[in-house]
Amino acid sequence: MKRERLDKVLANMGLGTRKEVKQLVKQGLVEVDGSVATDPGMHVIPETQEITVEGEPLNYKRWLYIMLNKPPGVVSATEDNLHMTVVDLLPYEWAHKVHPVGRLDIDTEGLLLLTNDGQLSHNLLSPKKKVEKEYFARIQGRVTDQHVEAFARGVELEDFTTLPAKLEILSSGDVSEVRVTIMEGKFHQVKRMFAAFGLQVVYLQRVRMGPLHLDTTLSPGEYRELSEEELEQLRSHIQKNSPV
Ligand code: URA
Repeated sequence: MKRERLDKVLANMGLGTRKEVKQLVKQGLVEVDGSVATDPGMHVIPETQEITVEGEPLNYKRWLYIMLNKPPGVVSATEDNLHMTVVDLLPYEWAHKVHPVGRLDIDTEGLLLLTNDGQLSHNLLSPKKKVEKEYFARIQGRVTDQHVEAFARGVELEDFTTLPAKLEILSSGDVSEVRVTIMEGKFHQVKRMFAAFGLQVVYLQRVRMGPLHLDTTLSPGEYRELSEEELEQLRSHIQKNSPV
């Protein structure tokens, strides 16, 4: 566990800017393990030490795991000069800590995990772990069994051939509805897979990543922390998918 400056911990918890939280300490309003803190630069271990502000204990969490139902129009990044980002949708105390696990296109909706756990993030994105990503998509044009078979063989794109993908037709017509499950996460992958057959994706929503399903009670733009159970399922999924 890492020792950190008290003012940094307080600021990261959303109690104010570094300058403001220094004032809290100077005013004697912050206690560490029952003693009034006098030095904002003192080092603390927030997971194990009891820190109170005006008598209220801080509920410190080092690791954050947030499920967001990404709305269209926001980018999967922590900063962008032009557009709102996914972290702009989160409260301040989370926003500056987490990063999105992979990317969804600006117009794609659905399940996006955000965390400050670099290891978990790395594992979920590692091609070696082959974590499934499942999407619901609306396609301009008729999707047929031939496409299902072609996806199952792997689709040849300009720069690579995809791993076998599962395509399930929900309805087929001038606009078709499908479910597609891929194991990589290359740039525009689903759109490019359909484009290889002259078909255009007009709506794309991620509904699952490995064992983690989009919580359908979250409206676009809403988020929540993962439950302990979901986190456990993610961790054991990654373990199981480790190459031997
Ligand atoms: N495939 C795409 O084409 N876009 C996404 O956002 C995700 C997968």
